[in-house]
Amino acid sequence: MSELNGTAVTWLGHSTVHIETAAGTSILIDPFIEHNPKYPKGYVLPKKIDLLLLTHGHSDHIADAVSVAKKYEPSVVAIFELATWLGSKQVANVIGMNMGGSYVHKDVTATMVEARHSSSIEDDGRLIYGGEPAGFVITVAGGPTIYHAGDTSVYSDMQLLRELYQPGLAILPIGDHYTMGPKAAAMAAKYVGASKVLPIHYGTFPPLTGTPEQLRSFLEGTGIEVKAIKPGESLR
Ligand code: NI
Ligand code: MN
Repeated sequence: MSELNGTAVTWLGHSTVHIETAAGTSILIDPFIEHNPKYPKGYVLPKKIDLLLLTHGHSDHIADAVSVAKKYEPSVVAIFELATWLGSKQVANVIGMNMGGSYVHKDVTATMVEARHSSSIEDDGRLIYGGEPAGFVITVAGGPTIYHAGDTSVYSDMQLLRELYQPGLAILPIGDHYTMGPKAAAMAAKYVGASKVLPIHYGTFPPLTGTPEQLRSFLEGTGIEVKAIKPGESLR
């Protein structure tokens, strides 16, 4: 499964990704907009966002979640603790779930899967417990299956994602320091069985030193394609 079949995947810098399916379902993942140094300047979000998926509570993933949720009124999918916190900020339509669970909206099934990382929420200068960090497998009926890993290291159980979901496109952090770097991300791509990788979470801040070129070199000879695009550009 390698074709996107009419689904557009737009990278908005760091971990922020917008996906629009052929049927018109609009999904935003990890909105980091106003203070995201790599957010494409002048880029305007689509008029409609049906689903807002949040991988974990760190501010470089949810900084604009409350404002986006209030403006667009999407269904907001996050792990229970983070969802509860959003509810306490008067965010409506919050769906708190946990590992292995799926939320279905029209042609899209979003399944919450493991990530090896930490999660906390900064609230009024304090760090509060954010539940476990997660990734999402996004299965589009009649379209692609896309894995957004969130922030994670590589782990061998990623092979279960290949068995269960066969993602064609893996959206993987490669920056190192806070997540896996390119060498481990290459192994993650092999574990999940994706034919294409969209590298994210690199170059935003000085410690995030991994590059798509390094990822490409670690994937040489595997047939797995690295689709490095600029923020604001789309895979189709
Ligand atoms: Ni994080
Ligand atoms: Mn992060």
